[in-house]
Amino acid sequence: MSVTVIVGMQWGDEGKGKVVDFLVKDADAVLRYQGGSNAGHTVVLKGKKYIFHLLPSGMLYPGKLCIIGDGVVVDLPLLVEEYDTLKREAVEVGDLRISELAHLVMPYHKILDELEERRRGEQKIGTTRRGIGPAYADKVSRVGIRVGDLLRPDLFEEKLKFVLDRKNEIITKIYGERPLDILEVRNLYLSYTDFIKDKICNTVYLVRSLIEEGKEVLLEGAQGTLLDITYGTYPYVTSSHPISGGACVGAGISPRDVNDVIGVLKAYNTRVGMGPFPTEMEEPLGSLIRERGGEFGATTGRPRRCGWLDAVMIKYSAKLNGVNKIALTKLDVLTGLEKIKVCVAYKVDGKITEEFTPFLEGVRPIYEEIDGWNEDITSARSLSDLPPEARRYVKLIEELVGCKIFFIGVGAGREEVILL
Ligand code: IMP
Repeated sequence: MSVTVIVGMQWGDEGKGKVVDFLVKDADAVLRYQGGSNAGHTVVLKGKKYIFHLLPSGMLYPGKLCIIGDGVVVDLPLLVEEYDTLKREAVEVGDLRISELAHLVMPYHKILDELEERRRGEQKIGTTRRGIGPAYADKVSRVGIRVGDLLRPDLFEEKLKFVLDRKNEIITKIYGERPLDILEVRNLYLSYTDFIKDKICNTVYLVRSLIEEGKEVLLEGAQGTLLDITYGTYPYVTSSHPISGGACVGAGISPRDVNDVIGVLKAYNTRVGMGPFPTEMEEPLGSLIRERGGEFGATTGRPRRCGWLDAVMIKYSAKLNGVNKIALTKLDVLTGLEKIKVCVAYKVDGKITEEFTPFLEGVRPIYEEIDGWNEDITSARSLSDLPPEARRYVKLIEELVGCKIFFIGVGAGREEVILL
């Protein structure tokens, strides 16, 4: 029996989709525990690229139980679209379940995300504008609407009316925009009851029974540690808890149930949206890595900012999450660089420290530099197939973080992996 959390160790986009896709073949179930359609998990199967925003990455395995957990915020129209598209394209898909406790992202959340970002001007967060922040804010303010409410139409309508009246006041009086029509929203959402009827469940009992039956359960995080609402680089963060602790809350399990925490780490650093980024690469290197690594948002298409690996940050991340195994991704993207830099310490207010601070403004990185390699590594399937410089890089990361790497991604395809 085992429960494994898969968590991003950086600012998201570490390649968690590929790692989950790899692990899921030996698992019985995979559960998404937080976030919403702001995520974009890319899986490449037989040369075809699939991007999941809401569906757990195990959906490409026929019959696997794929659960949208209690901690997720669900954009239902988008989920239905994603599910239908996948069903049309893939012959067989996973068995989808949706928590009745998951909150709904409503049309007004997306509108307000957009309007609030615009109003922030220079101070904007750079959100994905998928309504994530406003949906979580409503959950905490106790005016959210849950997936389970859809099965109680009268109650749903009552809740919707109460909240939409307030939202329309904000939309019209503060922002001078057009109000939403309650009937339209009601009818749209209730039209999905057929879709959710056979998928909705109390996932607390479902997950409990899987654990008690000794099944292998993967808990799939979205975004990454540094985007955590509390422990990340606030305010340039998302509104949920991507860290492994968030997996317990978002899946309805006890910390005692978790056996392994796999940290997914990209061989370099990226960040989308605003906020300080001490190891950000200069041009033209940043653009080169962006192009080569396909570093454009899977959800928004925005170019990702690229930088060197930050060992200070990932050590913090490893501790915060209790990572006991690392999956290193996209090592192939660094091929062809003469030198590779790794940030090993920070200079903060003239002092050198190896301690991470989420107050990154003004932090200067101190680098260690190693030689790069030129050989194509995409066909490497064992450590000995890698050039010595690439092996040195892998070893250096293990030493700096104090944690073993068990998986190295050397290309986008399912089979382009070295297992250690
Ligand atoms: P939100 O989650 O849309 O509210 O965006 C808040 C911050 O998190 C922004 O900087 C986004 O770019 C970032 N973000 C949200 N989801 C992802 C993701 O899946 N990958 C990387 N960054 C993300």
